[in-house]
Amino acid sequence: MSPKKVFVRTWGCQMNEHDSERIVGILHERGYILCDTPEEADLILLNTCSIREKSEHKVYSELGRYAELKKENPDLIIGVAGCVAQQEGSHIAEKSPWVNMVFGSKHIQDLPLMMERVGEQKTVVMTEDLKGFAPTLPARRKDQIRAWVIIMEGCENFCSFCVVPYTRGRERSRPLCEIVDEITALAREGYKEVTLLGQNVNSYGRTSEEGVDFSDLLHHVHAIEGIERIRFMTSHPNALTLKMIQTMTDLPKVCEHLHLPLQSGSDSVLERMNREYTYSEYVRQLETLRKVIPHISLTTDLIVGFPGETEEDFLKTLRAVEEMQYDNAYVFKYSRRPNTPALSLDRHLSEEVKAERLQHLLAVQKEISIKKNQAYWNREVELLVEGKSKTHQERLTGRTRTNRVVNFDGSEDLIGHLVRVQIVQAKTSSLEGRSI
Ligand code: SAH
Ligand code: SF4
Ligand code: F3S
Repeated sequence: MSPKKVFVRTWGCQMNEHDSERIVGILHERGYILCDTPEEADLILLNTCSIREKSEHKVYSELGRYAELKKENPDLIIGVAGCVAQQEGSHIAEKSPWVNMVFGSKHIQDLPLMMERVGEQKTVVMTEDLKGFAPTLPARRKDQIRAWVIIMEGCENFCSFCVVPYTRGRERSRPLCEIVDEITALAREGYKEVTLLGQNVNSYGRTSEEGVDFSDLLHHVHAIEGIERIRFMTSHPNALTLKMIQTMTDLPKVCEHLHLPLQSGSDSVLERMNREYTYSEYVRQLETLRKVIPHISLTTDLIVGFPGETEEDFLKTLRAVEEMQYDNAYVFKYSRRPNTPALSLDRHLSEEVKAERLQHLLAVQKEISIKKNQAYWNREVELLVEGKSKTHQERLTGRTRTNRVVNFDGSEDLIGHLVRVQIVQAKTSSLEGRSI
């Protein structure tokens, strides 16, 4: 009998990407193989994101397309996982009755059980809250050199615009020994780089009784032989301590890149966002960081058009971007999300104003990003070689410690190794290098 085929579509953050790797890991153990199109699948899984309204709409339009496939093949199993599944629960089955399973990220481990129940129940729904952390699950990782590893999940911050505390639940940290065991096993398999994942990685340990904080965790991961680079995503400004900055400089495997979302440059907007820091507090943190780690690459997230954002507020965000000189910024138009306090704020802005501010901010940041990229010209950098270049199969591609993509000529046996190159050209979003 030929193996069963699963088609997985993933939206959203790296947590979701990695959850899909774990979903595929579980299914692989049960004999499933991945396929490239929904048409050839026995099982379709959508791992969804709810961060903005648009992300949610994409799920329903995709599901609409599968109604036809289900008519043609009544044995086809369709599952919806992730943040929209957690948020909407059985409503998904009401809107799209051809869906067989709906489950939140805490129930990935229950996938085999749900598969058994398909057929017994119209739609199997698993979205109830669970205490604690899911056990380590098998993962089929896409990459053989760089691996994502979950260290914490959920969020306690309740930023007034954000759906994550309602979809991923309360903050919880994964036990230290499980993280260390997983990364040790990855190192044995030949992985060279890990990215520690969580909604607020730097508040690691805050809600557990192990007495270990994020800096301590970095020390433990640093001691694992074979791992050459450590990254992490996402950090919150309120949990950025001097101890953490010191640890980042003390540990050579920790890469010089920090993604630190600012969201807005206006204090009154920050306050209504419930971010619990002021712009000047944030600036002081970045100044310290840059003093201690001069070449650090800094990236951020920004929201334009938050309810009540005046032209003056927006100009403050523009000024912040000019002052901060980020290497890159991800800019979003404010989007209304269910359950969130920002929904009931006054003065929601029109789509036109939001779109205009988005374009303006993107244009200013683009100039800065290009300038930052050009500053690499002639510099000598260390790369972890990841594989062949996507655009030129005869060239190799790697990343600097500051997370910039560099393409260069080199032999395939360099893949998975650290090499030094000189930057000979800066393109808009990547660099060209020459081996030295
Ligand atoms: N935990 C991370 C980021 C989570 S979501 C943090 O706090 O930094 C990633 C980004 O999506 C956020 O930083 C924010 O800029 C954006 N975002 C979240 N909710 C949004 C909404 N309702 N509308 C527009 N952008 C949003
Ligand atoms: Fe959302 Fe704020 Fe938590 Fe980030 S810190 S996940 S933006 S609530
Ligand atoms: Fe989206 Fe959920 Fe991640 S809402 S950004 S997939 S935590």
